[in-house]
Amino acid sequence: MRIAASAIVLCLVAACSSTKPRYEYAPNMVDSLAYESFSPNPVTRDGKTMMAPAPGTIARGAKPFRYGVGPGEALRAGRELVNPVEKTEAALARGQKVFGIFCTPCHGTRGLGDGPMIPSFSKPPSLLGEEARSLPDGQIFHIISRGQNKMGSHATQITPEDRWKVIHFVRSLQN
Ligand code: HEC
Repeated sequence: MRIAASAIVLCLVAACSSTKPRYEYAPNMVDSLAYESFSPNPVTRDGKTMMAPAPGTIARGAKPFRYGVGPGEALRAGRELVNPVEKTEAALARGQKVFGIFCTPCHGTRGLGDGPMIPSFSKPPSLLGEEARSLPDGQIFHIISRGQNKMGSHATQITPEDRWKVIHFVRSLQN
C-alpha cells in the first residue's frame, strides 16, 4: 500500500518536472479563433467585435464631469467644485511633473506665458496675473477639462486627479 502511494507521488512529481510538451485534449477549445477588436462581428448586437458601451455607462472608478463647454459652465464649475485632493508634497511633485509635460509648452515653467510654443501659438496670459489668481480651483479645473478659447481641452491626456494636482502646483507658483 505504502509502495503504491509513493509510486503515485513519484509519477506526479515526474510529470511536473518534464519539459516535453503534453498532448492536448480538444485543442480547438483552447486555441479558439479570435476576432480582431476592430473587425466586424456577425454575433454581437451592433456588428462590432468591441461593442459600444450601453448608453449612460460610467467607467469603474470614473466620476462624470457634468459641465459643458463655455464661460457660463466654467463659472458654475468655479462655484460648485472644490479641490478634493489633499495638498501634500507628493501631490505637488506630481502636479509639477504633469504641468511640465502638458502646460509648459505654452505657459512656460514659471507660468509666465513664455513657453517654447510662443510666439508660434497665441501667448497665454500669465498664470501669476491678477485674473488667474482670482479664478477659483473649480474654474481652472473646467479650463483644463474643457479648454478655453484657443486653449484646447486636456481631458483625454490628464486624469481628473492629476488635474487637481496641477492646480495645487499652479497655486504654489502663484505664492
Ligand atoms: C497649446 C497651448 C496651451 C497649453 C498646452 C495650455 N494652455 Fe492654458 N492657456 C492657453 C491660452 C492661449 C490661454 C488663453 C485662453 C483665452 O484666451 O481665454 C490659456 C489660458 C489658461 C488659463 C486661464 C488664465 C487666465 O488668466 O484667464 C489657465 C488657468 C490655464 N490656461 C491653465 C493651463 C494648464 C493648467 C495647462 C496644462 C494642463 C494649460 N493651461 C495648457 C494656452 C495653453
